[in-house]
Amino acid sequence: METRILAAMARDGFERVLAIHDRRSRLRAFLGVHDTSVGPALGGIRRWAYLEENQALRDCLRLALAMSRKCCLADVAAGGGKLVLIDAPGVDWERAYAYVGRVVQSLGGLFYTGPDVGTGERELEWVARATEFVTHPGPSGPGRLSDATAEGVFAGIAAALRHVDGEEDWPRRRVVVQGLGAVGLRLARRLVERGVSVVAADVDGGKAEAARRELAIELADPSRELDLSCDVFAPCALGGILHDLTVERLACRIVAGGANNVLVRTEHALRLFERGILYVPDFVINAGALVRGATFHLDGRREPIERIGERIGRTTSELLRRASEAGEAPETVALREADRRITERRREDEPALS
Ligand code: NAI
Repeated sequence: METRILAAMARDGFERVLAIHDRRSRLRAFLGVHDTSVGPALGGIRRWAYLEENQALRDCLRLALAMSRKCCLADVAAGGGKLVLIDAPGVDWERAYAYVGRVVQSLGGLFYTGPDVGTGERELEWVARATEFVTHPGPSGPGRLSDATAEGVFAGIAAALRHVDGEEDWPRRRVVVQGLGAVGLRLARRLVERGVSVVAADVDGGKAEAARRELAIELADPSRELDLSCDVFAPCALGGILHDLTVERLACRIVAGGANNVLVRTEHALRLFERGILYVPDFVINAGALVRGATFHLDGRREPIERIGERIGRTTSELLRRASEAGEAPETVALREADRRITERRREDEPALS
């Protein structure tokens, strides 16, 4: 499907989208800035082997918009942005990331960037050579952002369990974690500490085996974890895993995890609602890294991880309560609230007409 860029920007209210090509490193990338009405746009750098450039562009727009929604609902005075790099053979990545740093610097603080899938500490060091507007991975930075994400997801799961059953009752719970990367592994650790029975799956067999040895958890075949009966299914791998077929397979009571853009379409949240499965919107529960990074860059402090968990737990509880009262899916209520807040921020930002 062809994306008509200006039409898509107008529909979703984007401020700018840059198409980036660097002849020397052979980098091809998109940078989306969705909203800077109350502060800079924030968004990590995703590197992925997209099959065609339209896919990369669509991902960039979706992820940047999700960041704006995340900022509003987490009460962070910033907007959303995203950098998406097309992974392909022959790219000189050290040069490419340094080039990305120069592009970010040229925006003069309009956009701050940081880690995402495919971009870790080594790549951020390369970016940081050319710009100050990046989450520095070293001791001068905000610390490991994925720890804050995992803590927020843990607190959001606790809020969802309290909402459904009135209590967490951890030792009687079974949670299936999809993906044992930075977020999933830490989440699994937090759950095991509470006595939860954790089953996990990762397409990287080495990571799965290392987690099993460390935490004594059960492993599932990475194509079957969706079918397992459990209290909570926690997607912590890539987005787009819940679609027409997979929403019917789920055998859990709650879906709550760290991955971005878990649903292929918003209607899948409605189908989960019909099926009586509580879906906690990803842009509410996975905002821990955003809160930690934003408070560091904008206020110059490191918000303690526990406080971030409490904050996300409170936001999640409040959303679930409001959705229940309205008899609507939490996704519907959260999207409406986020879009209302974005419009309000923009209205306040507009210069008064004399
Ligand atoms: P990561 O790259 O460290 O871990 C992802 C893991 O998922 C890898 O171990 C990978 O092998 C595994 N995986 C990929 N496809 C899979 C599949 N089909 N089934 C099972 N496992 C699979 O990434 P990280 O940082 O843990 O992020 C995970 C998700 O959370 C991503 O969607 C990311 O966008 C989102 N997120 C991460 C934040 C952070 O602070 N790191 C912040 C907000 C969202």
